[in-house]
Amino acid sequence: MRASVATLVCLLLAQGVWPGAPSVADGGTVSGREVRLPTVGPAEGGALEQVMARRRSVRDFLPTPLSAAQIGRLLWAAQGSTGRRGLRTAPSAGALYPLHLYVVTQAGVYHHQREPHALRRVREGDARKELARTALGQQPIAEAPAVFAIAADPKRTEAKYGPRAERYVVLEAGHVAQNILLQATAMQLGAVPIGAFHDRAVSRTLRIPKDQTVLYLIPVGWPRG
Ligand SMILES: Cc1cc2nc3c(=O)[nH]c(=O)nc-3n(C[C@H](O)[C@H](O)[C@H](O)COP(=O)(O)O)c2cc1C
Repeated sequence: MRASVATLVCLLLAQGVWPGAPSVADGGTVSGREVRLPTVGPAEGGALEQVMARRRSVRDFLPTPLSAAQIGRLLWAAQGSTGRRGLRTAPSAGALYPLHLYVVTQAGVYHHQREPHALRRVREGDARKELARTALGQQPIAEAPAVFAIAADPKRTEAKYGPRAERYVVLEAGHVAQNILLQATAMQLGAVPIGAFHDRAVSRTLRIPKDQTVLYLIPVGWPRG
């Protein structure tokens, strides 16, 4: 009898369910050689976990155009103002914000303006096929109704952080890209981050100024099927 009570106590402690003991799910402290962690997934989590669990690279799109409101929401996720002093949805080293966003649609190439929130056309006409050729012919770029481009002008970041700026701007593009991918998922859209392209050819196609470098392309649209 005594042995079975001891066994039960050990089992309960191992499960983290002994009354009064911090439960693993509630966040018992992290200490000791090995710490068991609670299962995490969309069922246990909130809205963000559910979106993250659904995010998948989508490369096959319907031709249906995205509305200006949808493109606006994706751009807000990328670089929207969320605080005083111009702070934004994505973090930036020293709050210097070296990134520029472009959107390529059937109607042209547009440069994102934050205030007032707008798109300014820098090239007229459909550049998506040409853009796909600069990216090893990747079809999602030619077929998605909107392709987002993230470019960096590292000057101000360099002035403060010197050679470290090269790393910072790339990290920041990752933050912005993930915000776009998660927002697309939340909006039932599909997207894929694309890093394989010829930098100079992309810049020429998108009419990107010489002081900016394109770091990422993200085709976005309604998933086919
Ligand atoms: C830095 C980076 C570059 C990528 N470049 C491409 C690319 O050029 N073409 C492409 O189809 N997918 C590209 N991807 C997407 C990956 O192939 C994809 O994330 C990976 O297969 C995992 O699948 P998942 O995104 O559905 O989780 C890239 C992803 C990252 C993070």
